[in-house]
Amino acid sequence: LDKKVYYFEEVSSTMDVARKLAQKGEEAIVIAETQTKGKGRRGRYWHSGRGGIYFSLILKPTINPSQAHLVNLLAGVAVAITIRKLFNINATLKWPNDVLINEKKVCGILAEMEAEADIVRFIILGIGINVNNNISDRIKSAISLREILGKEVSKKKLFLPLIKEIEKLQSFLNQPKVLVNRWKRLSSTLGRHVRVIIQNKILEGEAIDIDNDGALILKTSDEGLKRVVAGDCIHLR
Ligand code: BTN
Repeated sequence: LDKKVYYFEEVSSTMDVARKLAQKGEEAIVIAETQTKGKGRRGRYWHSGRGGIYFSLILKPTINPSQAHLVNLLAGVAVAITIRKLFNINATLKWPNDVLINEKKVCGILAEMEAEADIVRFIILGIGINVNNNISDRIKSAISLREILGKEVSKKKLFLPLIKEIEKLQSFLNQPKVLVNRWKRLSSTLGRHVRVIIQNKILEGEAIDIDNDGALILKTSDEGLKRVVAGDCIHLR
């Protein structure tokens, strides 16, 4: 691996540990067996029971802040491809950045950015994968790899190829089209009737496309085409 790996038995959240390291100029990976305050998107809690993989990667891509959310797409593609290759399971992507197996969430992705003016200082990419943890009894819409495969999975055998895949895909951050096309091929969202909640408003329609900025194009019955931006790369400052 190119990056230094910090391993912890338990942390509050690997996002916070990684951010502190990034502020000191490090470009590392922070991984923990369990998190006491796992962070999900939109301020939600992320269950981080033992057996799962929870890590944050510090990235310093040369992109501008408006493209930072592409990191979410990149991570989703990397996780789905790695799971497909290793386990021959049909992992799919749900916009904006969930990885699903049999319609159930197996992985969540969270990106936080620190930017100044037009320069991205760093992005913390957080990935949580339900591997050997029990999750389906707790959250109906989630599942772990062990629950699907019926046997334990080696976390190491998943983690290393995944990091490699992420590193490989990073070169496409400057070619959004390539990234978006890969995302589309793995998508389970396109062509379906979906409901999206943005700023407390519900939008409903057919998901017809993802544009080169990663925005979802919805065909609504009353308002025509609507472009939905996830705004998923949270600004830290
Ligand atoms: C979501 O789907 O809501 C995103 C979940 C992201 C969870 C990962 S686990 C590693 C990293 N540390 C956190 O506290 N959150 C992310």
